[in-house]
Amino acid sequence: MTDSTGRIAITGAAGSLAGDLIGGLQRDGYSIVGIDQRTPADACAAEWFECSITDRDALAIALEGCDAVIHLAGIPLETEWGDLLRTNIDGTQAVLEMARQAGIRRVVLASSIHSAGYVEVPDDGKVDDDVVVRPDTFYGVSKAAVEALGSLYHYRHGMDIFCLRIAGRFQRPHDERMLSAWLSPADALRLFTACLTTSNGGFHTIWGVSANTRNYLSGDGGEAIGFFPRDNAEDYADAVLDPDQEGGPTLASQWDRQYLGGDFCSPNPPRLKSRSA
Ligand SMILES: NC(=O)c1ccc[n+]([C@@H]2O[C@H](COP(=O)([O-])OP(=O)(O)OC[C@H]3O[C@@H](n4cnc5c(N)ncnc54)[C@H](O)[C@@H]3O)[C@@H](O)[C@H]2O)c1
Repeated sequence: MTDSTGRIAITGAAGSLAGDLIGGLQRDGYSIVGIDQRTPADACAAEWFECSITDRDALAIALEGCDAVIHLAGIPLETEWGDLLRTNIDGTQAVLEMARQAGIRRVVLASSIHSAGYVEVPDDGKVDDDVVVRPDTFYGVSKAAVEALGSLYHYRHGMDIFCLRIAGRFQRPHDERMLSAWLSPADALRLFTACLTTSNGGFHTIWGVSANTRNYLSGDGGEAIGFFPRDNAEDYADAVLDPDQEGGPTLASQWDRQYLGGDFCSPNPPRLKSRSA
């Protein structure tokens, strides 16, 4: 359990998800150590380390004296295998190992719904938080590896590990799939705060999703650590499904209707451009 006097390292601190968290955690009293390969002009963490998460010496310095790590740094879309291997898998192993060596007992890992993307959308009921790994892309495989590394560091080293299978984190839902899978910025903050404050340590796999009327992902894992989402994508349903909007309503694709991973299961999943060329 990490109380609000804690010092929290956030990797990927310049990214969009970190932007949901840093201000709120600081308002709650946490001191934030930002770690990212780039430094934005408006970086607002108390301390900032511009380094790669694959640079273990730099991580050792950045993590010194921290009480917990929120590990967000990574490539968030499909791309070349070598890039995902280096950043998402090697990088996560480096973060976990350097956290262990620094004596940090609690790490929150950004996994993704795409680690289980080929699980079918249920006709009724909810998909368990720890449903089988069934990745939809190399990206999804990298997130499955993130979860496996988290499991290793819990069962071998006794660290408290929270693997968050984040569904769709956006400012607001923009298509029909998001009416089920949206995680609002405010609920993201609630979820990560619950991971820091719960006395229920151990190894957890938890869906990161808001209290959407059309949600098909279990809330049990979140409730077990005191995460109770409040936002509901249904508030945006009329706008998302409005037949008169420019371009027409943004309806679910055949992939969205069949699989948790939606369009990541299509022949052309959303991609980042290769950085290794
Ligand atoms: N946003 C979502 O809906 C969503 C959904 C599922 C999972 N996730 C996961 O959450 C995490 C954060 O997502 P995001 O949307 O903020 O992505 P983002 O791309 O906005 O942020 C990622 C950050 O990581 C940094 N980074 C990348 N490689 C690095 C390296 N080698 N060393 C140091 N920093 C590095 C980038 O500079 C960037 O600031 C990612 O791991 C992503 O896979 C996000």
